[in-house]
Amino acid sequence: MTDQLVRFGVAMESSLLEEFDQLVEARGGTRSEALRDLARAAIAKRKVRRGVEAVGTLTLIYDHHVRDLSEKLTELQHDLGEKIRSTLHIHLDHEHCLEIIVMQGRSDDLHSVAERILALKGVLHGAIEVYAHDSGHHHHAEHHEHKKQAAPSKARKRAKQA
Ligand code: NI
Repeated sequence: MTDQLVRFGVAMESSLLEEFDQLVEARGGTRSEALRDLARAAIAKRKVRRGVEAVGTLTLIYDHHVRDLSEKLTELQHDLGEKIRSTLHIHLDHEHCLEIIVMQGRSDDLHSVAERILALKGVLHGAIEVYAHDSGHHHHAEHHEHKKQAAPSKARKRAKQA
């Protein structure tokens, strides 16, 4: 199935257009391609905020000498079960570790997990990147997760009503 291209007029201040054209030139391609990419990025960002199936990476730098931090991080990840897809750990130097945690689940859940981890004492730097991604087979895992939980979270309830 082909997605038909639709033409429409865009009005823009000349100064904004000038700067936009500089951006188009720097990245290569056409105005239309640049606008489409911006639209897709803005739409994806909005979906992620609302709470959709997503994948994400959480990057952390932490001091493993801080009491109980390594244990807390491991425990949190075990609690998350299927949400954690992979972890990369690098011992940076005597006290610092870098960890990249690849997660999959609802975007709002991934953000709250990241906030909990980033708030731990001893975590020096960290950031999360989340992308909307609905892989069909993931619904099966979601189903089992519901059974284990006493009650669906408020975010889940909201999403169902929407
Ligand atoms: Ni380490």
